[in-house]
Amino acid sequence: MGKVLGIFDSGLGGLTVLDSLLGYCDYDRIVYFGDTERVPYGAHKKTTILEYAKQDVRFLLSKGVDEIIVACATVTSNAIGELKQAFEVPIIGIIDAAVEKACKSTINGNIGVIATKASISSNVYEKSINKILPSAKVFNKACPLFVPLIEYGFTHEGVEVSYKACEYYLKDLKENNIDTLILGCTHYPLLKPQIVNVLGENVKLIDVGVALQEKKYQTKTTKLPRIDFYVSNEPEKFTIEMSKFISNNLFIKNSTVSLIHIEDY
Ligand code: DGL
Repeated sequence: MGKVLGIFDSGLGGLTVLDSLLGYCDYDRIVYFGDTERVPYGAHKKTTILEYAKQDVRFLLSKGVDEIIVACATVTSNAIGELKQAFEVPIIGIIDAAVEKACKSTINGNIGVIATKASISSNVYEKSINKILPSAKVFNKACPLFVPLIEYGFTHEGVEVSYKACEYYLKDLKENNIDTLILGCTHYPLLKPQIVNVLGENVKLIDVGVALQEKKYQTKTTKLPRIDFYVSNEPEKFTIEMSKFISNNLFIKNSTVSLIHIEDY
C-alpha cells in the first residue's frame, strides 16, 4: 500500500490547498474531508473548533492516512498545538509558510491579513509575522461574509454582491498602504479578481496553499493519486462546486464524493 494523505477543511476552501499540491505531492491516495454541515468554522469559539477538528482528524485516521494537512487556517490558528499533542500522525498547519512568504515579499513593511473572525481573534498571524519581522505593521481584517459567499458559489466575476463585500471589508486596508496581503483563509483565493478590483494589481496576494506547496512540496510528479472526497452534508452541491477550485480536472475525473456522519468520530 502506498502513502495516503489526509486533508480537511470546514468545506470547499481546503480545495484551494489541494489544488496547489496536485502535481507536487507524491501520494498514491488522497482523502479529503469537508465539514459542509458545520461550515463556517470561523464563527465558532476555540473549544468548538478544537472539538470539530478532533473529529475531522479521527475520521481521516479511520481512512488510513499517513499524514494530515489542516487546510483550514481557522483550525490551524486555534487548535494546531492541541491537535499535534492529541494525535501521533504528522499534522501540518497552513499558516507558517504563508507568513514567511509575506515577510519576504513586503518592501514597505505594511502587511494586511484577511481571515475568519476566529483566525483574526487568535492573533496568530500578527504574532508570527512580528516574530520574523518585528518592524512590520500588520493590518488585520475579519471578513465573515466571504466564506458563505464562496460556499454558495457567489464568486463569478459578474456577481455584484461579491464585489460589494470586498469593497466593504478591504477599503481600510487600501488606506493603510499595504503592499502584501495574506489571504488568510483557504476559501479566499476564489475571490482574487474581486480583491484585486479593490486593492489594485500592485498589492502582492499570498495564497496559503501555494505558500505551503512552495515550502514543503517542491518536487514535481506526474502521479495521479486517487482522491476520495467526503462531506458531512450536500455531496451533490460539493460535486458541482469543486470543479471551480481544481484547475486540472483530470485529477478529479474518477474521484468520488461520499456523505458521512462526522459526529460518529
Ligand atoms: N477555510 C477555512 C479557513 O481557512 C475555514 C473557513 C470557515 O469555515 O469559517 O479558515
